[in-house]
Amino acid sequence: MSQLSGSLAPSVSVNERLFVALDYPDADSALALAEKLAPLGVSFKVGMQLFYAEGMPVVRKLQGYGKTVFVDLKLHDIPNTVAGAVDSLVRQGVDFLNVHTQGGPDMMEAAVQAARKAASAIGKPAPKLIAVTLLTSLSEKHLREFLFAEGVSVSEYVQHMALQAKKCGMDGVVCSAQEAAVIREECGPDFLLVTPGIRPAGADEQDQSRVITPAQALQNGSSYLVVGRPITGAADPLASAQSIVAEMRGALG
Ligand code: C5P
Repeated sequence: MSQLSGSLAPSVSVNERLFVALDYPDADSALALAEKLAPLGVSFKVGMQLFYAEGMPVVRKLQGYGKTVFVDLKLHDIPNTVAGAVDSLVRQGVDFLNVHTQGGPDMMEAAVQAARKAASAIGKPAPKLIAVTLLTSLSEKHLREFLFAEGVSVSEYVQHMALQAKKCGMDGVVCSAQEAAVIREECGPDFLLVTPGIRPAGADEQDQSRVITPAQALQNGSSYLVVGRPITGAADPLASAQSIVAEMRGALG
């Protein structure tokens, strides 16, 4: 297996390292897919669309399948507000959630403190708190649009934000698997790298800019892969998820 591979708890199976993004408008659609995929033992990601429509009840139902449920709300506000949001989510049982690095170090530190305090108040282990480095739909051209100086590359930007997240006590980052190798080297084996923008060879990129195959993502050091439309939009979602898990297993050798 690749030297870059991070160390996850041995109890985390290959199948659990696949987060299926349940980007649906309602709980019925999300739970119908989750039920189909349940025998495979994959993890699930609840994003803004589903969470804002259905809230915690759908998260709890998905947690009932026994695997990790990542609540992907990409919190981004002033430190006090983000700390409050993290407190509310953790007290309701969310144990894998994220904020934006662009909220700044004070915001990330406030989120870490709030997560630890809320978890201890309900007698649970601290949740996994992940920071988004740069959305995988963004590329070099967008950095220029944000007025970053010529010469600042996506890779440099993402590395810088990942290190900052680590210093603030975050458990890991969301990043493109294209940047996973450098981040793994800089941030060490225990830092979680959650990578969306995954496309099996030949699949449509859709609105993602920096895509990579499941096998390559793991070889680059990803801890968890996030896959949405290649599974949710497939004629046979279970077959699609099975084939991605088989590719992951092959890559992890
Ligand atoms: O359908 P697709 O595989 O492109 O879905 C990717 C998922 O990962 C979406 O739910 C999207 O919100 C999420 N995501 C992303 N890029 C990030 C962070 C999260 O695509 N940087």
